[in-house]
Amino acid sequence: MSYDDNFQKISKKNQRKNRNEHQAFDEAQHDYYRAFFTEDPDTFADAATVPENADRWSTWDQSTPLERGPEPHPGWLVTESAAVDYELGAVKSGKEADVVLLERAVPDTSRRCLLAAKRYIDPDRRQFRRDHQYRDGRGHPDARAARAIAKRTAFGLKAHAAQWAYAEFSALRRMWSAGVAVPYPVQILGTEICMEFIGTADGDAAPRLARMRCTAAQRDDLWEQLVESLSAMARTGYTHGDLSAYNVIVDDGRLVIIDLPQTIDVIVHPNGSQFLDRDVHHIGSWFVSAGLPARHVTDLTRRLFAETGVS
Ligand SMILES: Nc1ncnc2c1ncn2[C@@H]1O[C@H](COP(=O)(O)OP(=O)(O)OP(=O)(O)O)[C@@H](O)[C@H]1O
Ligand SMILES: [Mg+2]
Repeated sequence: MSYDDNFQKISKKNQRKNRNEHQAFDEAQHDYYRAFFTEDPDTFADAATVPENADRWSTWDQSTPLERGPEPHPGWLVTESAAVDYELGAVKSGKEADVVLLERAVPDTSRRCLLAAKRYIDPDRRQFRRDHQYRDGRGHPDARAARAIAKRTAFGLKAHAAQWAYAEFSALRRMWSAGVAVPYPVQILGTEICMEFIGTADGDAAPRLARMRCTAAQRDDLWEQLVESLSAMARTGYTHGDLSAYNVIVDDGRLVIIDLPQTIDVIVHPNGSQFLDRDVHHIGSWFVSAGLPARHVTDLTRRLFAETGVS
């Protein structure tokens, strides 16, 4: 058997494995909607008893294991039931979501960590510019939610935001496990995702790649990190779907890919190959304008197609 045949065989096997995993996620998603929307939203808040100055109890205990990040949970993560959450301020308000800096801490101890809470916005304020491509790739698992979304009822609007939150959380889990440089996904609860905060211990968020000026050596190092991460992503069969220098942040030289609600299954999605091509083109153009030879970008596209099993 030639190297190519062997590669194809292994890559088909990986794709089957991926698909089984995705199915498990989709089934979990179905259960998630059920649980979330039959629950009285007030049960999520226990405001009366929250210690002074805190904004809420830690929501960690309210998420089930599948609604939390992959195990083992990192040592820095505060998982104690006695912990509380402090909102330290807005990181960014966007069209689709607000990102808020949270401190999760156990009062009167030194246990604390910083989290980025991404809250999908209630739909009056938002446009889901990425809906169309998402719908092409996947149907909604819950017929009731799908009808409500189509009719834009209050329930439907909320389900819609939760659908995006869940899609991003699932993608973060999958990518984190595959070794892609993404923030560690801490938990999802309703329309809010908590993830590792990328930035300084003082709460300054890492800058976006688009804003960075760097030396040739730094640029080459970032490119290498990008190639590693995108290759790991391609081996899961997916591409980011909205990759650009705005969705990559850099923390003291460490490149981290963010904003993944619309990841695209390159093989299943009818335009999967175009999305992969576009992602590499968008992010590659930042590197080319920073002086990277353009052939590296072409090489990367070729490499990622090979990794996904599309030739
Ligand atoms: N985990 C994180 N750590 C630090 N900063 C973050 C994190 N996640 C997001 N941010 C910041 O918040 C901004 C918005 O996040 P993200 O891109 O995920 O949301 P968005 O609503 O899709 O925004 P946009 O429409 O601008 O793309 C990011 O550009 C980044 O500056
Ligand atoms: Mg973004």
